[in-house]
Amino acid sequence: MTRALLVSLVSCLLALHQARVIQRCDMAKLLYKEDLHGFEGYSLNDWLCLAFVESKFNTSKINENADGSFDYGVFQINSHYWCNDYLSHSENLCQMDCTELLNPDLLSTANCAKKIVSGESGLNNWINWKLHCSGRPLSYWMTGCSLA
Ligand SMILES: *[C@@H]1O[C@H](CO)[C@@H](O)[C@H](O)[C@H]1NC(C)=O
Repeated sequence: MTRALLVSLVSCLLALHQARVIQRCDMAKLLYKEDLHGFEGYSLNDWLCLAFVESKFNTSKINENADGSFDYGVFQINSHYWCNDYLSHSENLCQMDCTELLNPDLLSTANCAKKIVSGESGLNNWINWKLHCSGRPLSYWMTGCSLA
């Protein structure tokens, strides 16, 4: 009995953990649903490339920076400027808790990303975008994906 409980608990945790990495086409659908396609002139291909190079689609990714701030979620949004994690000073420009950026529904993530990309440097706000996505052929990111 105890063992069966343990096994189901572990597999439940594993399932939860796996659910935190979103499949490419599911990511496309979620970003489309949150109206990122065409936002500020960037296509879903652009957003998919960004999400992949930042997090490999891992919604629970957290990374600590040298300055003591942290980056959260699929777009690795920074706590110094955009969200508050109560660990260090934050401008909190997106006016949200950083933990909201780990939600697999991507609602807060998309809202904050819209705010960031609306600045004058657009997706160039993300250094990894500049290095790995900008100016490259990106159409294969949507290969085999349907948005319906
Ligand atoms: C996702 O990110 C979390 C937190 O950074 C990490 O512990 C986990 O191993 C990552 N998952 C995968 C599949 O890379």
